[in-house]
Amino acid sequence: MRTKLVVGNWKMNGNLDQNQALLNAVVAGTRELQNVKCAVCPPYPYLAEVQRTLENTHILWGAQNVSQFDLGAYTGEVAAEMLLDFSCHYVIVGHSERRSLFGEDNHTVAEKFKKVQDKGLTPILCVGETLAQREIGETERIIEEQLDAVIKLVGVDSLVKSVIAYEPVWAIGTGKTATPSQAQGVHLFIRNKIAKQSETTANGIQILYGGSVKSNNAGELFSMPDIDGGLIGGASLVASDFISICLAAQ
Ligand code: G3P
Repeated sequence: MRTKLVVGNWKMNGNLDQNQALLNAVVAGTRELQNVKCAVCPPYPYLAEVQRTLENTHILWGAQNVSQFDLGAYTGEVAAEMLLDFSCHYVIVGHSERRSLFGEDNHTVAEKFKKVQDKGLTPILCVGETLAQREIGETERIIEEQLDAVIKLVGVDSLVKSVIAYEPVWAIGTGKTATPSQAQGVHLFIRNKIAKQSETTANGIQILYGGSVKSNNAGELFSMPDIDGGLIGGASLVASDFISICLAAQ
């Protein structure tokens, strides 16, 4: 039985005061959570504050990105081992915003995925199609290519020590959430694809949905058999909304 996981991706948002209020409210509001793990991924500068605030609570934390390189002359980059200093658990890799705005291709994302696992952290691998790709029936091919790049580098069994997040690009930040059946269909495709190589891995891996998850649609989405939780953007910045979404995963 897979436990549900709800992860808040703060994106490039926050400040020290607001973060403290948000974190304290979310800790208090999710204290009674049963069989659901929740985590937050703040911008890098706030990892120390998040670690201090969450380290003795039930909530995990992580980063939104990482360098594919080892320590060295890479100005502006953050190495995976640096995230260990802040007791990070998760690292989001291949978010569509990294792919579209910062030119990260499938190979780069796969290298980041491997680097994260090599340092003992858990990657959250984002996959998903654009509206144009969906409209011409390319959804499954695009997602297959995104998954294959990682499987080719690390092997299918390594996926069990990771999380996959299906985030249709056309649903991110738009309010146009995928319907539960649309999302379930892609999640099942992902799980069946992995099962062709490893049933155990396919049954064990958590596949999250991301893309305009709100307190009023989370329950129906999370009730789908192959949706194991959510990767939450905008709603993770509002304590009451994020708490409702976490509670909806129970
Ligand atoms: O990583 C999660 C994010 O892409 C979803 O954003 O604002 O549509 O929940 P949002």
